[in-house]
Amino acid sequence: MNTHSPIISARQLQKHYGDYIAVDGIDFDISPGKCFGFLGPNGAGKTTTLRMILGLTPLSGGQLSVFDLPIPERSRDIRARIGTVPQADNLDPDFTLVENLRMYARYFGLKLNDELEKRIEKLLVFAALSERRDAKTDTLSGGMQRRLTIARALINDPDMVILDEPTTGLDPQARHVIWSRLNELRDEGKTLLLTTHYMEEAERLCDELVIMDHGKILDQGSPAELIKRHVEPEVIELRSCDTDTINTIRHKISDCRVEHLGTSLYCYTHDAGPQLEYLRNEQGLTFMHRPAGLEDVFLKLTGRELRD
Ligand SMILES: Nc1ncnc2c1ncn2[C@@H]1O[C@H](COP(=O)(O)OP(=O)(O)OP(=O)(O)O)[C@@H](O)[C@H]1O
Ligand SMILES: [Mg+2]
Repeated sequence: MNTHSPIISARQLQKHYGDYIAVDGIDFDISPGKCFGFLGPNGAGKTTTLRMILGLTPLSGGQLSVFDLPIPERSRDIRARIGTVPQADNLDPDFTLVENLRMYARYFGLKLNDELEKRIEKLLVFAALSERRDAKTDTLSGGMQRRLTIARALINDPDMVILDEPTTGLDPQARHVIWSRLNELRDEGKTLLLTTHYMEEAERLCDELVIMDHGKILDQGSPAELIKRHVEPEVIELRSCDTDTINTIRHKISDCRVEHLGTSLYCYTHDAGPQLEYLRNEQGLTFMHRPAGLEDVFLKLTGRELRD
């Protein structure tokens, strides 16, 4: 494989379930050795896209190649070089940590020998789970289960690791440990592909990302590029328990792009100075001044209405 060619290339990729279009003709290229993110609200088509990359669900249209090999013809060979962390942990609760890793190794056709045992011990160290090696997996916390699932994905020393919401539902400590492990993997040269609902996670980990909604890609770039392209650099968030106060302020604020949500206003601007000066003298308001981030881009592109 040419080192400069993309490790995954998708052209007009589509997935239909009956009349429903889950992935609607998307194009993307993923470079080797990078961390690439798929961001999007619930139902955007992220997991479906990952499942097509893994050859677990057939394409309804378009072309997809991974490691320069076509899907579906070479799906088996492709899967052998990818580690997967599915959206929901699927560890076997009746087995210990070590047994879970051995079982997964067998699934990849790896021989159960000393070399594999050493690899398992190394992966347990990587996941900070050595002390629990002989415990059943249902005795582990959510963070431990997620770390074990990531360790399990590495059993075949894959070139690429695909992680579907690696830290959903975890506490900040557990999340930070996983971020540091994922950075280590990228530093080793592995390509990482992940979906997430946490914008901080995407900003910290992803070199490049796409924002998806309703099966389409809305935009693509590095987190910094996307922020620069779509939102003003400064944000003032205003709150009041009184709707009238918010409505009045909304009409008094100028030189801002304003988004109104209930009793909150989000004012996006290139220079918050004059607004802050004015707001300091207003009564019945709380406000916060902060730099714009990926969450602002995400909400601008995908909207603020609920998706459930
Ligand atoms: N097997 C299926 N049959 C019918 N519809 C499906 C199937 N799998 C997914 N869908 C639908 O396709 C759409 C995209 O689903 P997908 O799981 O890819 O979304 P997602 O972006 O991963 O969302 P989430 O953030 O909630 O995980 C959803 O509307 C979902 O209901
Ligand atoms: Mg999903």
